[in-house]
Amino acid sequence: MSSGISQLLEQIHEFSRRCLFRVISVGPLPIHLAFIMDGNRRYAKKRGLEDGSGHKVGFSALMSMLQYCYELGIKYVTIYAFSIDNFRRKPEEVKSLMNLMLEKIKSLLDKESIVHEYGIRVHFIGNFALLSDQVRAAAEEVMEATAKNSRVLLLVCVAYNSTDEIVQAVKKSCTNKLVEHSEGRDRDIERIQLVNIEETMQMRVAPGPDILIRSSGETRRSNFLLWQTGSSQLFSPDALWSEIGLRHLVWTILNFQRSHSYLEKKKKKPL
Ligand code: FPP
Ligand code: MG
Repeated sequence: MSSGISQLLEQIHEFSRRCLFRVISVGPLPIHLAFIMDGNRRYAKKRGLEDGSGHKVGFSALMSMLQYCYELGIKYVTIYAFSIDNFRRKPEEVKSLMNLMLEKIKSLLDKESIVHEYGIRVHFIGNFALLSDQVRAAAEEVMEATAKNSRVLLLVCVAYNSTDEIVQAVKKSCTNKLVEHSEGRDRDIERIQLVNIEETMQMRVAPGPDILIRSSGETRRSNFLLWQTGSSQLFSPDALWSEIGLRHLVWTILNFQRSHSYLEKKKKKPL
């Protein structure tokens, strides 16, 4: 196909998408979307691609999803990029995934990267001590480079799981309590309140997700945002992550809108 025709088709797609988003935006929109990007290895297997290719395609799917979220005006997007349990995979697979992670994190620093184009602030969440110096340094560099962006906050969970986040937060709140007590600022040494833990959670930078999407038809939460998804709607489209696209996002949001008013009313009513 000539480049002129493909450019025209691209413009038609973009125009149709913007019209569709206008219509959808008449209804309530989620503020925070969270994704478990599952099914990348299965995608590579299904297509007869070499190991690791599924995750590369998965990164492109993520970039498109971020573009749609930006166009829809969704403020927070959280992704499960690498769990603490993923470190138990074969060493060569962990190495190749970490190399890909490093390459992709660095690519976010490029001038033409989507994070600069759309004003996306990138924030990494997880146990950084488990990451290599290179990955940690790249993550810190991206956080610093995008710190002033404010259109969308992208929370990337790497070396993360929810129980680890909770344990770290409890430890930190106990330390804070002891310090405040020793300085005479808090007499109540006995009691750690919910708020003490919440203010030390790494995910405190965003409200709880309205929607959690796990691709590939799986319905497990796999130790992801257990604290924050108590009231989230869960969706599990059959598509593998590398295949996920506009139609899955639109379908999810329409379903969210369908039950939104019922859930809002339920929140206000006493039990
Ligand atoms: C799960 O699929 C996905 C991962 C372990 C990693 C996904 C990471 C990316 C798409 C890149 C993200 C990079 C940045 C910089 C944000 P799987 O391996 O469990 O596949 P399977 O379910 O088919 O086995
Ligand atoms: Mg998987």
